[in-house]
Amino acid sequence: MNIHKSLFFEDIKTENEFVWKFPSSNIEVFMKREDLIHPIVSGNKFRKLKYNLKFALDNNYDSVVTFGGAFSNHISATAYACQLINLPCTGIIRGEELEQLASKNFISNPTLQFAQQCGMQFKFVSRNAYRDKEKLQLECLAKNPNSYFIPEGGTNKLAVKGCQEILSAEDKHFDYIASSCGTGGTLAGLIKAAGNHQHVIGFPALKGSFLQQEIQQLTRKKNWSLNTNYHFGGYAKLSSELISWMNSFFRKTKIRLDPIYTAKMMYGIEDLIKNSFFRKNTRILAVHTGGLQGINGMNEIRKAKGLNLID
Ligand SMILES: Cc1ncc(COP(=O)(O)O)c(C=O)c1O
Repeated sequence: MNIHKSLFFEDIKTENEFVWKFPSSNIEVFMKREDLIHPIVSGNKFRKLKYNLKFALDNNYDSVVTFGGAFSNHISATAYACQLINLPCTGIIRGEELEQLASKNFISNPTLQFAQQCGMQFKFVSRNAYRDKEKLQLECLAKNPNSYFIPEGGTNKLAVKGCQEILSAEDKHFDYIASSCGTGGTLAGLIKAAGNHQHVIGFPALKGSFLQQEIQQLTRKKNWSLNTNYHFGGYAKLSSELISWMNSFFRKTKIRLDPIYTAKMMYGIEDLIKNSFFRKNTRILAVHTGGLQGINGMNEIRKAKGLNLID
C-alpha cells in the first residue's frame, strides 16, 4: 500500500491472516497485518503518527522534533511521514559516536541513512544527555519555539487514540488480543478499543516492571495483563535462538517478523499455548506492529560477528 499525503490521514483497516490452529485444544491464532500498511510507516508507527502529525499541521507548527536510537523504527517512520507532509523534522539521536558516521553518509546504518535521505536533521547526544529530555527540548525550543515534540517511541495521548483504530468491529469475536510492548502506547490503544469480554495481553520487549504503571496512566480499563517472560534478555539483545525460531516461522507462514518486538510476542503465544495457558477453543488475534526496516542494519552487525542472519 502506498501512502499519499491525504491517505495518511484516512482510516485504514488491515486484514487478519490465519497463522496457526492447534487441533488438540482447538485454539486458533490470527495475525493482524498492520505491517502491510507501508514498508516504513508500518504498523503502530502509522497509528501513532497519524493524529500527532495532524495536530502539528492543524496548529501550524513549523517543525517536528523527536527522539530515538540508531536503529529506531520511530525515527525512520517520522522522517518519511514528515517528508510526505512537507514538515521539516529533527531526530535527537542517542549516541554521540554516531556523528562520525555522518561524514560517511551513514553507510553502515541504513536507518539513519534513510532518515537523512528523507530530509531529517540530526542532533547526536551522549547517552547521559539523552536521558534529560526536558533539557534537550528546551535547547531545541530556544532555537525554534514553534517545534512540535513527539516523545521517544511516539507514545502520547494522540498516539493512543491512533492505536485504538487498529481494532475494528469485526475483531470483537476474538477472546484475546496480543501485542508486543515497548512504551505501552500501542497496548493502551488496544485496551481502550477492545470489548470488556476480551482480554488484551502484552509481551514487553524490555526487561523491568515500569510498564504496568505506564499503561495504567494511559487507561483505567482492567481487561489486560502483561506477560514478562519473553523479553529474551531485553531490548535490542538479539537472541540467536529467537532468530532461528523466527526464520522457521517465516518459512512456514511467509510472514516476516522482527527480532526486537513481534517475534518475541509470537514465540510467547506459541509457548503459552503449548503450556496450556489458554483454555480450549480460544481465538487469539496477534497484532503485527511492523518494524521490519531495522533488519538490514541488524544483519550487517550479525554478519560481521559471524552470527546467524535474519532471513
Ligand atoms: C515494531 C514495533 N512493535 C511494537 C512496538 C512497541 O510499541 P509501544 O512502544 O507502543 O509499546 C514498537 C515500538 O514502538 C515497534 O517499533
